[in-house]
Amino acid sequence: MANEGVNETTHEPVNLGRRRFLTATTAVVGAVGAGFAAVPFIKSWNPSARAKLAGAPITADISALPEGQRLIVEWRGQPIWIVRRSQAILKALPTLDGNLRDPKSENPDQQPNYVLKGNPEYRSIKPEVSVLVGLCTHLGCSPEMKAEIRPEPFDPEWKGGYFCPCHKSRFDMSGRVYQGVPAPTNLVVPPHHYENDNTIVIGVDPQGAA
Ligand code: FES
Repeated sequence: MANEGVNETTHEPVNLGRRRFLTATTAVVGAVGAGFAAVPFIKSWNPSARAKLAGAPITADISALPEGQRLIVEWRGQPIWIVRRSQAILKALPTLDGNLRDPKSENPDQQPNYVLKGNPEYRSIKPEVSVLVGLCTHLGCSPEMKAEIRPEPFDPEWKGGYFCPCHKSRFDMSGRVYQGVPAPTNLVVPPHHYENDNTIVIGVDPQGAA
């Protein structure tokens, strides 16, 4: 039983050895809420060990990524979250500005400039697809995705986002940090561009981007 654990969503036993293997070798999509019984896995481009060591760009295929779910890939040893956001989430984001520390993403270290064109609240090239480094800007824990708009124990007015259990920092679905939490800045948006509609290259800016 040493390799057994419990799936937080389904409360069913899981084989941790197998889970570790899958996490290490493929991209993983986690279930978003209690309504999702299955945890689907999406195969993505698997960078070679050499490319990983060099911190080379990686490519992620988002063709099978459903709305409300997250694809996790690894770039330079960091988890990169790619989330397909719903219209409801996009509509809620601008309403949160008054609760946030840097709603317009004025700290230039946290994202490339091109993700602020159009609608700065989205911090993304395409409104529905958010790309973030999945590490809390306080001490580097990996926040939990709480993507549903519903009251949460830590916020009765929750509009979806990320909650860091280490010291209770909160971020919205664009990775913008709330006021009054230990994390000082928004989550980082990595350099990235679209090779085509369904392929994102992480680690390289779009051609000609300022
Ligand atoms: S590491 Fe996230 S709140 Fe401290």
